[in-house]
Amino acid sequence: MSDFTNGFWSWYVAAISLVSILACGWLLWVAGKARVTVQPGKVDDNTTGHVWDEDLREYNNPLPLWWMWLFVLTIVFSLAYLVIFPGLGSFSGWLKWSTQGEHKQDVTSMRADVAPLYAGFAAQPAEALAKDPRALAIGERLFMNNCSQCHGSDGRGSKSYPNLTNGNSAWLGERGAAHIVQTMTQGRTGVMPAMGAAIGGDAEISQLAHYVLSLSASPHNEIKAFSGKKLYSACAACHGVDGKGNKAMGAPNLTDDYWLHGWGEAAIANIVKNGKSNVMPAQSANLTPEQIHVVSAYVLSLSRSGFADTTKAVATAPPAKAP
Ligand code: HEC
Ligand code: HEC
Repeated sequence: MSDFTNGFWSWYVAAISLVSILACGWLLWVAGKARVTVQPGKVDDNTTGHVWDEDLREYNNPLPLWWMWLFVLTIVFSLAYLVIFPGLGSFSGWLKWSTQGEHKQDVTSMRADVAPLYAGFAAQPAEALAKDPRALAIGERLFMNNCSQCHGSDGRGSKSYPNLTNGNSAWLGERGAAHIVQTMTQGRTGVMPAMGAAIGGDAEISQLAHYVLSLSASPHNEIKAFSGKKLYSACAACHGVDGKGNKAMGAPNLTDDYWLHGWGEAAIANIVKNGKSNVMPAQSANLTPEQIHVVSAYVLSLSRSGFADTTKAVATAPPAKAP
């Protein structure tokens, strides 16, 4: 109710609530007083004179007392409710109760309940937790709720959302608990500047793209790649002279078969021309530092092969045949 941007709606809601309650009271009062007067010339048989189905008559009795007081009670109850709880426009009620506040309290008490469990986890390094089935079960649930919408329920990601089951060489940063915790806590933004103008026209960009394809031994045109090699010097500062990337800058390895933003001449030409700004929002508002620690262990465990440095091909890997 405190979200109204305009005072009018607050008053509108308050007026509707109060007028309806008062109207109920008025209706009760009027109905309680109303008596049917006997028409001249008619016998007063204590009925209202209404007849249905030929012989069904309505007695002219006052409202039963128990019923009337019940009605009065509901009116008093609704007025008291509106004073205690929020219901009258933006008035927040005597108790200052709100669903938001109740949720916050639930979260706080839930966190207090599980604090001893997390304290046990916090005492161990993520590498050790990555072998603890209890920690992994909790980490997996937290991952499903907070990460899977972007990184997939199996952590294998999709276009522009990194695969977290890769070997280290395909990661944007140095794979390990420190990088994973920092990414979750602060978020990250990967920025590749648009470089089309610096490289030249479509012909040059195509040559460069074929050179980049040659770095990963992907199918490519040898002649174009040969001409593209000198253009690559504009990229070496970030992706390295050998194309193996630079984890400190988050510049990906261009020599493996993992393509975060898609494989092929068109995808490479597109990122060279338009650049790319790829954002992961910080998760520290949703997760406590202890929870982040447990999730980092789960993410480490996603590549179960003892962290072998093998890059896993995904849907964006090059097809077997030349394009
Ligand atoms: C809204 C989408 C989104 C959510 C939610 C999200 N991520 Fe990410 N994440 C991304 C994107 C996009 C990147 C790549 C950022 C870049 O290009 O630098 C990324 C990058 C990462 C990286 C770095 C990968 C690398 O190769 O270095 C890690 C680790 C990571 N995320 C873990 C998580 C975890 C754990 C969660 C859940 C707590 C999570 N992410 C939630 C979108 C998301
Ligand atoms: C200022 C540093 C910088 C320069 C210069 C740069 N890049 Fe990048 N590039 C990046 C970063 C950072 C990313 C990853 C963006 C992200 O996190 O999503 C990237 C991503 C890419 C990708 C996507 C890789 C994938 O896995 O999908 C390609 C291809 C690429 N760059 C090619 C080039 C080429 C070709 C040049 C030279 C014209 C170049 N880059 C110049 C920083 C740079």
